[in-house]
Amino acid sequence: MGKIRGDGKSQSLFIPSEESRDKMKSSSQKLGVSVAELAETEEGLRLRTTNKDINKSFRQRNIDQHKEGQASGQKTIGKNIDCGIQVKVIVPGIKLEFRDTAKSVHCDDDLGNPVTCREDAEQSSVCLASGSNGCVVGCKISGMEAVAKRSYCFIDPDDGKPIYSDANGIIREAGVLTGLEQHARDHPGFINIVPFMGAGVTSSGEPLIFLEKADNSLERQLSKGALSLSQLSDLGQDLFSGLACMSSLNLVHQDIKPANLLLKGQTLWVADFGETTSKTGFASSGIDGVVLADNERVAGTREIKPFHATFEPPLPASDIWASGLTLLTMLDPQKMLDSDRAFLNQFHSFPFDQLPYIQLSEEQQQQLREQIHGHLDSFLEESLKGDDARFIPALADFFYQVFEPDCNQRISAHDAARALKMYQKTIFRH
Ligand SMILES: Nc1ncnc2c1ncn2[C@@H]1O[C@H](COP(=O)(O)OP(=O)(O)OP(=O)(O)O)[C@@H](O)[C@H]1O
Ligand SMILES: [Mg+2]
Repeated sequence: MGKIRGDGKSQSLFIPSEESRDKMKSSSQKLGVSVAELAETEEGLRLRTTNKDINKSFRQRNIDQHKEGQASGQKTIGKNIDCGIQVKVIVPGIKLEFRDTAKSVHCDDDLGNPVTCREDAEQSSVCLASGSNGCVVGCKISGMEAVAKRSYCFIDPDDGKPIYSDANGIIREAGVLTGLEQHARDHPGFINIVPFMGAGVTSSGEPLIFLEKADNSLERQLSKGALSLSQLSDLGQDLFSGLACMSSLNLVHQDIKPANLLLKGQTLWVADFGETTSKTGFASSGIDGVVLADNERVAGTREIKPFHATFEPPLPASDIWASGLTLLTMLDPQKMLDSDRAFLNQFHSFPFDQLPYIQLSEEQQQQLREQIHGHLDSFLEESLKGDDARFIPALADFFYQVFEPDCNQRISAHDAARALKMYQKTIFRH
């Protein structure tokens, strides 16, 4: 799938269930934070922690810290969010140098030379996955199994030193994971964010991110075949719950797809935050500290966000659309991962694709909506057979809300998680 990048170079309202409260408690204990208590506020039920942010919404914590950072002249993810990697901009957008901070984490293993390309990565016996910008290798941190994310590099002919070409993504990801931990670790959806073990810099100046090791990616799981409705509902709840955690800080992931979702036991983790952005707060600036304009924050995979280029700036609602495509892939991987992209091309061929949604007439908006519903109806009818066909009307109603063309009306991550939970309780349990 083609990546797009901008010029940037580079509802805190929820009602946790008994079960998620238990999960949350164990996750808070693991992280060594005070156990959250529930409190009724005028905004509805909201988690209250016993730390200094006691009465602030997640988003407010994020914005306040960003402002504090800016006031003290520290503006970037690598500075006012100390993720363990300090960035020194040598030539903006081209040459950066990385240094340790007091928070840096190091792994037990020597990862060898910097990796220059995919072939290089694939030859390494510890390489778990390789992509166009970097690779993921297995390692240990204080004896615990982990993975390190590495960026490919090329050698600067002037001084013979490596230039890490996707270091921007590494720093952004380390910053986003640190920010999530600082501001939203008491959100119930935090357990659906890949556990961050820290970030650091090797002795040769390579920036690395360390994550807990997952069992599999959703992409690999789906290459074996479709999931049951019950599995879809479980994993879908986890996905929307992770996104609800992100949107509590106004973060937009921008690259939700099966390859960026990880499975550990029965749990799904949202991963790969290299393209994550935000209109406000710590993720609103580039790693050089300059606040990015809307068009500079656009990045990710073009195919999963048809509205992105012409219809929507990056919004949490854009991740809901991409999540809908992931859920359709769970139902029918063959159709969605088809190399000819027959369904996707049809689904995303809008009659008015040169205009933002708000500039369409009411009639055109309705026509667009009906077209989307028609495609979803046929998809579900072709993909759900036998007993499962009974659930088509309920699922169609859910997917209509996920693929609502008006980003302001599209279902929120929080409500989508709740809807799937309700389906799980009432109809999929047969
Ligand atoms: N914590 C993890 N445990 C196990 N495997 C992982 C983990 N994180 C990532 N992977 C594997 O590495 C792949 C790439 O990871 P990720 O998407 O985070 O990196 P990336 O640099 O964005 O790669 P790409 O450019 O291919 O999108 C994942 O699809 C998954 O297969
Ligand atoms: Mg990825």
